[in-house]
Parts: sequence; structure tokens; C-alpha cells
Amino acid sequence: MKVLVATEKPFAGVAVKGIREIVEAAGHELALLEKYTDSKDLLKAVKDADALIVRSDKVTADVVAAAKNLKIVVRAGAGYDNLDLDALSAAKVVAMNTPGQNSNAVAELAVSFMVYMSRNQYTPATGSELKGKTLGVQAYGNVGRLVANIAKGFGMEIMAFDPFIPAEKIEADGVKVASSLEELYSSSNFISLHIPVTPQTKGSIGYALLSRMPKGGCLVNTARKEVINEAELVKVLTEREDLKYITDIAADNQAELNEKFGVRVFATPKKMGAQTSEANINAGLAAARQICDFFATGNTRFQLNRF
Ligand code: 3PG
Repeated sequence: MKVLVATEKPFAGVAVKGIREIVEAAGHELALLEKYTDSKDLLKAVKDADALIVRSDKVTADVVAAAKNLKIVVRAGAGYDNLDLDALSAAKVVAMNTPGQNSNAVAELAVSFMVYMSRNQYTPATGSELKGKTLGVQAYGNVGRLVANIAKGFGMEIMAFDPFIPAEKIEADGVKVASSLEELYSSSNFISLHIPVTPQTKGSIGYALLSRMPKGGCLVNTARKEVINEAELVKVLTEREDLKYITDIAADNQAELNEKFGVRVFATPKKMGAQTSEANINAGLAAARQICDFFATGNTRFQLNRF
């Protein structure tokens, strides 16, 4: 079988080496398409691929249509909003992700973002400490839990909101459970977002929630830009000169944000949450193993779609 790794933002070399070893040891062939800048290159490369490993690369209906031999696609990572699951299901292609494999890298970045903003982007202006502040974790999944755990080491109080996880499970970690999103935002000096993009979450973080944050509040986004209502973000940052926003996924209106709000906002030049050797190795090798196991035994653990 031909396994294509298509990564616009490549894995570290050591991860690619590990993926190759796993794929070839199972008797398959590895093909690489890295740093492509035109989606046409992906359409060409998938033509004869039996399996596909991607990161945030968009697997659209066109890609699925071009990939006549495709049986499985694995998103090496957690969020799978880049996969057209309907198109994949219609073509009877199994879609998987590798949950948890890159979570620590994202969690470390989220906590470092809090330090960076508390210290005014490392300018000499007097900053503040994380100790004693409250962190609100919005969605207590793999990343949210790790963020909470690291932040405890800074002496922060942690509160979380996650309607999909029983309160007892969250409380067992020494984390307070907010009864509503409104309570989470009203109580937290920092909010760290760990929600996926869904029809329900799209544009859901806006004026109503952010205006509730205590003085000096900071929103930390290592999730997705689509969950933010960007126009309302501008409005609240304009009205509340104490609020801050830091993101790993530049907003569509990032230039406007930077110009208007200076050191109160920051966006990384390119999404870097999962860009560590460790995360690349964990997620990349897991993806390769899941594909080889699927071909060898039909194992569909981590399958995201049903058909
Ligand atoms: C994820 O959903 O796993 C993260 O957003 C990482 O995305 P990346 O692989 O494109 O860095």
C-alpha cells in the first residue's frame, strides 16, 4: 500500500524517519509531500495513495474525489475540522485522528502565553504574576487538563467548564467546576480555550462573555480562530482597555488588532502549538501505526466517521 504524508507544515525530520520505519517495516511504501503551497500539488499526490497522513492540511471533497485508491486518512493531531467527513464517508474512506498525542506541546504553549502577556510581551513595563490568579479552562479534554495541571505549579486557582465531562471527574483534579460559561468568564483572570470548531462553537466567544472578565483579563487561544467572533473581539478590546488577547492562530483581522491594540494582543506568525519534536513524533508515529494496524487487522479505533 502507498502511504502519503502530506504536510504543508512538515513534521520534524526525526518524526518523518520514524513514520518511514513503521510504514516500511509493515511492507508499505512511503511518499512525502511537504511544504506544498498549492492545493493542486496535493490533488496530484493523492491520486495513487491508499492512505494519507495530514496535519491541518485540508482534506476537501476535491481531494477525496482525486484519491481514487484512498482507504484511510489520519489527521496526526486532535482537531479534525480540516477533514470533510461527509465526503470521506460517502467515499467509504475511514477518517481518524490521534487524540492526546500532541496535547502536552499545546498545553505548554498555552501556559507560556499567559506568562508572556502578564509580562507585557517581555517589554520592561511592570507586569504581573500568575500566582494567585484564576485560570478558566474552557473544555477540559486532553489539552485543558494538562494546562490546568501545569498552571497549578504556578500557584494558580483553576476553574473549568465542560458540559461533556462529569463534574466529579474534574473536581477530582482539584479543579473547581463552573456552572456556566458566564460564571467561568466572570471568575477568571485568564481564559484558555480548548474547544473544537463545531456549528455550536463557531463565533461563540464574543462580547457577551469577554466583557464579563475581571480587570486585566486575558484570553488565550490555542484552539481555533473560528470560535472567536472577531468583530466583537475588536469591540470589547476597544471598550475595555485592560483586556488582552493572545492566539496561536492569527485572526482574519489580526493586522487591525495589532494596529489598534499593540502589546495587548499577540499572534504567533504560524500555528506552533504542536510544533515540537516530541509532539511530531507522538502524533506522526501514532498515525503511521494506526494506518498499518488498520491494513493488518482492520482496527478502527479512533475512527471519526461512520458509513
Ligand atoms: C491539533 O488539532 O492537533 C492542533 O491544532 C495541531 O495542528 P498542527 O498539526 O497543524 O500543528
